[in-house]
Amino acid sequence: MAKKEIRLIWERSARGPAEHKCDFRRVERYGGRDDASGQCRMYHGDNMAAMCDVACEYAGGIDLIYIDPPYGTGRRLSSRLRSRAGESPPVECSAFDDRWGGGPAEYMDMLAPRLEMMCNLLSPRGSIYVHADWRMVHYIKVFMDEIFGREMFQNEIVWCYREAVNSKKRWNRKHDTILFYSKSDKFTFNYSEVLEPHAESTLKKYRRGDEKGPYRLMGRGLKGSPIRSARDVAPEWEQKHPELTYRHYLPAGKLPVDYWNIDIVNQAAHERTGYATQKPESLLERIVLASSNPGDIVADFFCGSGTTPVVAQKLGRRWIACDAQKRSIHITRKRLLALDKPIEFEILSAGGLYQSPDKKRDDSLFDIAEYSGESNAFSVVLKEMKSSEKDENGKTAAGNNIEFWAIDPEYDGTVFRPQWWTIKRNKRGAVDVESPVLRKNGDTAVAIIAGFEDGEQCKIVRRSV
Ligand SMILES: C[S@@+](CC[C@H](N)C(=O)[O-])C[C@H]1O[C@@H](n2cnc3c(N)ncnc32)[C@H](O)[C@@H]1O
Repeated sequence: MAKKEIRLIWERSARGPAEHKCDFRRVERYGGRDDASGQCRMYHGDNMAAMCDVACEYAGGIDLIYIDPPYGTGRRLSSRLRSRAGESPPVECSAFDDRWGGGPAEYMDMLAPRLEMMCNLLSPRGSIYVHADWRMVHYIKVFMDEIFGREMFQNEIVWCYREAVNSKKRWNRKHDTILFYSKSDKFTFNYSEVLEPHAESTLKKYRRGDEKGPYRLMGRGLKGSPIRSARDVAPEWEQKHPELTYRHYLPAGKLPVDYWNIDIVNQAAHERTGYATQKPESLLERIVLASSNPGDIVADFFCGSGTTPVVAQKLGRRWIACDAQKRSIHITRKRLLALDKPIEFEILSAGGLYQSPDKKRDDSLFDIAEYSGESNAFSVVLKEMKSSEKDENGKTAAGNNIEFWAIDPEYDGTVFRPQWWTIKRNKRGAVDVESPVLRKNGDTAVAIIAGFEDGEQCKIVRRSV
């Protein structure tokens, strides 16, 4: 009898991927500038376009993809993001808009072609983890089965977190689901990297110890032995009849299971960025350690506050990240630059940096005082935000505290290679920057980027000495 199949009927929108906003604004490269193999990259823009670009080099070459796409909450998730009138192109990308008027079908119109692209990008030993919640996970599962194959479904991981519970109407929803698929049946899974701690009750059983660690004294399973297969036998047995006993040492940890109790990033957490949907680094650590090896390429095409690239960087993986929001790019970059091990970066931008309009316009957030050829110092004057600049909730946007500076003293119009940068937070007012890198003579374009909570501005000043 022919095998029966369940078929998915999906009224796919007439729009093809090309009609999604398929452009990326620019790429930032991280890691050794001279060593392309060590480089990591971050795209700003639509991930469809970013993946097309990635596919030119890495089709079938990505070892791990983790994505945490919008959840279909029906809300706009970043009220702070605003566009500046008069900003010259390239302009602000869409905010993190999680409204899908057409329901799950419209949501899947967005996600399904992206999942297909991701499948092509994965290496034969690669894996993909798709993070979702109760709203969309069941639809995504069916599509994942179609795209990756049902037999490649490895786990449904349940991430349980503690949060205030308010509902008396139904069970409180306190978990997310992460679907784990592999590209083939030979996929990387380093279980020994993600062993779980033993329960207190287990530790108590291993009450003896020697130079090799805690152990239990056991009876061997020998025929005729009075302590055959017995557990926790008296030490006299080992002294008098060592052939009948053996020491069972405490294993390094418990084999990992598919439900994880990990705290959300709480108010006091050191890693907290303020990004609404930020995931804990410890969650990504488990995924990256288990499903990739040092030097592998890990990608996150919905990177948000950058948890995946940050964890990948810390664990010695190469990474590719993408997000459509300027704010995400800014937060991710700030996190990467704050890591203990310094990281070089450069910005490649075909259409130019996100430059403010001309210097005289008063909608610019900062200005650069003239500086003389004699000195390396110059002042950057931060302006008061105009009262008209309010976010859509009517609050004055709080985003004009500069959180990042970078200067390329020899900007060539396409690649921004900062030779000096800082992620010190500066309050409004005048900031004196003494750059050790400004050339004493010559004719150069000095590009200065200032990153704010909600975006960034760039100015390019010509300098002739
Ligand atoms: C749930 S958040 C990711 C949070 C992230 N895991 C973290 O730890 O911060 C989803 C992100 O996807 C981005 N996004 C949505 N649609 C996108 C698209 N088509 N291309 C690129 N990024 C997109 C949003 O801007 C948002 O930052």
